[in-house]
Amino acid sequence: MKALDALHLRSSVPKLSGPLPSQKMLENIYKAAFRAADHAVLRPWRFLVVTADSREKLGELFAKAGAANDAALDQGALEKLRSKPLRAPLVLVCISSFKPHPKVPEIEQDLSAGAATQNMLLAAFAQGLGAMWRTGSLAYDPIVKDGLGLSAEEKIIGFLYIGTVDGGTKQLCEPDIQSYFQEW
Ligand SMILES: Cc1cc2nc3c(=O)[nH]c(=O)nc-3n(C[C@H](O)[C@H](O)[C@H](O)COP(=O)(O)O)c2cc1C
Repeated sequence: MKALDALHLRSSVPKLSGPLPSQKMLENIYKAAFRAADHAVLRPWRFLVVTADSREKLGELFAKAGAANDAALDQGALEKLRSKPLRAPLVLVCISSFKPHPKVPEIEQDLSAGAATQNMLLAAFAQGLGAMWRTGSLAYDPIVKDGLGLSAEEKIIGFLYIGTVDGGTKQLCEPDIQSYFQEW
């Protein structure tokens, strides 16, 4: 796929299925992260690769966090949390990993990590894979952060779900581009 087509046509795919993308596809996705704009080349990111049975472990962690936050959650709600990571064969936990630097404030590092994450979405799409970026309260939950081994300086900026497109992709509507760009 041409770069401009990927940039103009990517959309989220909420319904994903197996198999796990090939090793080559995964390498293409991971490599794309490293072309994010990155002040001082700090690489202020890291990604946890969650596949196979590890997805169940992640689901348990989500359920543990859910139960700790709301003791009234019923079995159905807990099961929903448990099954979240099973929505795709691959979940990348995307982490902004702040590295103190005299010229690069935290916001710039978060933006770089976000750009790296977006690059991976695009690389997945460019290879015909489906992907979606999700957060929700679990991304900011201290139990989830602790269970995944994040340090105090780190943030979960997204869960990227990646797999085979299962079902259709949505119709894109033409954005009113001009109203977002003003001559100055
Ligand atoms: C940081 C971040 C977190 C997001 N979290 C969620 C989420 O938890 N749930 C959700 O439905 N969409 C979430 N989105 C939005 C979707 O990933 C998606 O971009 C949006 O639904 C628009 O669809 P599109 O990507 O096909 O244009 C998030 C996007 C970003 C950048």
